Amino acid sequence: MPIEPTEKIWMNGELVPWDEARIHVLTHTLHYGMGVFEGIRAYETADGPGVFRLTDHIARLHQSAQILGMTLPYSVDELVDATKATVAATGLAGCYVRPIAYYGYGEMGLNTQPCSVDVAIACWPWGAYLGDDGLTKGVRMKISSWTRHDHNTMPPAAKTTGNYVNSSLAKVEALNAGYDEAIMLNPQGFIAECTGENIFAARHGRLITPPLASGALEGITQSTVSSIARDLGFEVEVGNLTRSDLYIAEEMFVCGTAAEVSAVASVDDRVIPVPGPMTVAIGEEYARCVRGQIDRYKDWVEGVSSSERSSSDER
Ligand SMILES: Cc1ncc(COP(=O)(O)O)c(C=O)c1O
Repeated sequence: MPIEPTEKIWMNGELVPWDEARIHVLTHTLHYGMGVFEGIRAYETADGPGVFRLTDHIARLHQSAQILGMTLPYSVDELVDATKATVAATGLAGCYVRPIAYYGYGEMGLNTQPCSVDVAIACWPWGAYLGDDGLTKGVRMKISSWTRHDHNTMPPAAKTTGNYVNSSLAKVEALNAGYDEAIMLNPQGFIAECTGENIFAARHGRLITPPLASGALEGITQSTVSSIARDLGFEVEVGNLTRSDLYIAEEMFVCGTAAEVSAVASVDDRVIPVPGPMTVAIGEEYARCVRGQIDRYKDWVEGVSSSERSSSDER
């Protein structure tokens, strides 16, 4: 999906024209992968564009930076306001939002301490990452030959640019083998997550999703979906899953900001019933929730022209 340019990109405090948002080829993070980023979505709501769980995403950006020992030059509130301004500047009803903080031009070498930290926020239209019919048709998954990061190798809780070498290797391997997405196991052999989504599998009528300890990113959609599922009366547990659990799951879905909620039709060619009833109910409720159509989740939808704030993770 080629990127569709929009009007402006926010760079270090200023909205600059899209084509002028450039960096030098000797930018530090381009060489060593020490950057942190977020993936956020703004949705069309009855009150204009609403950015879903914006404050929580920016708080996670700050946590990712803290894990790297990187000091962001902007507070959570400043970046929330900057994101709203960027979304408003696109004039789009809905879009994908990509804030990134990176070590800039001026120093080279692995010591990041003398490096400047630059921040940019870009928005563009982006459809459902795993396809529009993911909820009903389901995607085909492959267990990857690549292992998800161990906590003492790369920090899985941090959304760092460098972490995604692992995800990209697994994604391309899965696509080349004719599948839609890869599932990553951790070094202990338990399920961690997909290359850009968290996993939920139903066993004995309960939904199980692997924890941060398994090597999964603590997904904001994972937390949203857990709240929605419990509110719908489903049992949700955070716990370890084995690959056998997936092969015999009663139903299974993956979720993330980019992919939203997508059913899984098979894992390593073992067919999983699609569409699963819990998956469909949760996916449909999620679609209403992000568009501000459900009163009890309305605080999660942050309008771009107001100063509403929300920061709650109910896991
Ligand atoms: C590796 C990985 N896991 C899980 C997720 C889902 O996280 P979220 O729901 O916060 O977008 C993402 C997307 O950011 C991801 O890149």
